Amino acid sequence: MAPPPSSSASTERETMTTRRSVLVTGGAGFIGSHTVLQLLREGFHVSIIDNLDNSVPEALDRVRALAGPALAQNLRFFLGDLRSKEDLEKVFSSKRYDA
Ligand SMILES: NC(=O)c1ccc[n+]([C@@H]2O[C@H](COP(=O)([O-])OP(=O)(O)OC[C@H]3O[C@@H](n4cnc5c(N)ncnc54)[C@H](O)[C@@H]3O)[C@@H](O)[C@H]2O)c1
Repeated sequence: MAPPPSSSASTERETMTTRRSVLVTGGAGFIGSHTVLQLLREGFHVSIIDNLDNSVPEALDRVRALAGPALAQNLRFFLGDLRSKEDLEKVFSSKRYDA
């Protein structure tokens, strides 16, 4: 017998989120940090590139604390500038992103 639709949808959602990786540019900023926390809570692996021009590392400490130790492990931070080819190569050479 086929599983009920809700179970199938739940499995599909779990597969999508546990395997998907998102790169958030400016993720230490106001909008970015809130977005990152929500993505972590939804089960995504999150990488951030931010040059901290208009943010502080403590913002990410706060995100990690709010996410909790287990989900905080799914967060990677790259200190870098989006305008730098070298910085972008570091971000994209170490991981594949879905979004
Ligand atoms: N209510 C509040 O407490 C509050 C606080 C801050 C901002 N805001 C509002 O939020 C809006 C802005 O939020 P936001 O998240 O768009 O901006 P933001 O400045 O908070 O975030 C942008 C992030 O991008 C980073 N960044 C900028 N240029 C970069 C580059 N070249 N390479 C890598 N990183 C770079 C910055 O360091 C910053 O962390 C504004 O409307 C502002 O008024 C509200």
